[in-house]
Parts: sequence; C-alpha cells; structure tokens
Amino acid sequence: MAMTTFEYGGIRHFDPLDIDDVMEICSTSLSETYSKSVVYEIFLTWHEGFFVFTSGNKVIGFLAGSRKTIHDARVLLLATREKYRNLGIGFELMNKFEEKCRYSGILSVRLEVRTDNVLGIKFYKRLGYSITSTLQSYYSDGSDAYVMWKPLF
Ligand SMILES: CC(C)(COP(=O)(O)OP(=O)(O)OC[C@H]1O[C@@H](n2cnc3c(N)ncnc32)[C@H](O)[C@@H]1OP(=O)(O)O)[C@@H](O)C(=O)NCCC(=O)NCCS
Repeated sequence: MAMTTFEYGGIRHFDPLDIDDVMEICSTSLSETYSKSVVYEIFLTWHEGFFVFTSGNKVIGFLAGSRKTIHDARVLLLATREKYRNLGIGFELMNKFEEKCRYSGILSVRLEVRTDNVLGIKFYKRLGYSITSTLQSYYSDGSDAYVMWKPLF
C-alpha cells in the first residue's frame, strides 16, 4: 500500500478563513449535511474547542466541540480527509481537545456516532470511550446513534 506523505503542519485553533476547507471535509467525510452557518455557530459558541490539523496551508482534519455544561463537553464534528486517514491525525485532534477540556475543568466528554460506523466506534473505544446509550433515529436518514462517553479524570 502506498504511504501517504504530507508536510506536517500540526494542530491550531480554527480560523474563519479555514471555513471552505472545513466545509469540503464535511461534505466528503460526514454523512450528515452541515451548512456554513451551523459550523460558524459552533465556532462562535466555543472557539477554544474547535481545532484544525494542517498540512502546509491546507486543513486536512478538524474537530469541533462544544461545552454542554461547565463540567461536560461534547465532540460535535470530527473528520480527517480520506487520503490522510490512519496517520494519527484523529488521535492528535482528540488528544488536543481532551487536553483543552481538562485545562478548562471539564470532567467528561460525550459524543454521538452512527451505530453502523464500525471504524469510528473502534477509534473512540481505543481512546477510552464507552457506549452508554442508543439514540433512536438520531440522524436525518433515520439511522440510530450510540452515545459514547469518557471521564477525563
Ligand atoms: C474516525 C476518523 C476521524 C479517524 O481519523 P484518523 O485521522 O484516520 O485517525 P487515526 O489515524 O488517529 O486513527 C485511525 C486508526 O489508524 C491507526 N493508526 C494511527 N496511526 C497509524 C499509523 N501511523 N499507522 C497505522 N495505523 C495508524 C489508529 O490506531 C486507528 O486505529 P483504530 O481505529 O483501530 O483505533 C476518520 O476515519 C474519519 O474522518 N472518518 C469519517 C468521519 C467519521 O466517522 N467521524 C467520526 C464519527 S462522527
């Protein structure tokens, strides 16, 4: 298998100038449809919980999170461009987000994942997340979601 090589830019906070890259990743990697205004709204709600992973001046992965309460955070969107998967970018984004959460006094992180997203579920389990419940017809196509949760301390 050909190894993907890329110029390692690393992680930084989302900048509104990244919006087109992020929207492209949303449309090619996520099954739900998100509008620019929804993504901006997430950014405005908690800009410190929105990270991008860059290569050169291009965004190749991102994580958008929110604070549910003072003590609980949520991963709302996470995706890596298909060409750059399995290189550790998703892990780095999750670790950065959890680090930010711990620093902000957040005690746990919650997220939703499609019940048929086998790779996504495996990825989150490897990071220490457990399935806590199922949300019926959570997605717009009627698919169910697992709620996954991780205590940070
Ligand atoms: C889920 C997702 C974000 C993971 O992103 P990623 O950048 O590929 O994540 P990583 O590379 O950190 O980890 C993926 C796997 O590659 C493995 N991996 C990491 N670095 C590796 C390396 N250098 N060599 C080989 N494998 C590696 C990890 O162990 C992990 O395996 P696991 O899933 O069995 O635990 C990505 O698959 C994606 O965008 N999927 C579509 C959207 C999605 O499902 N989002 C999440 C649910 S909403």
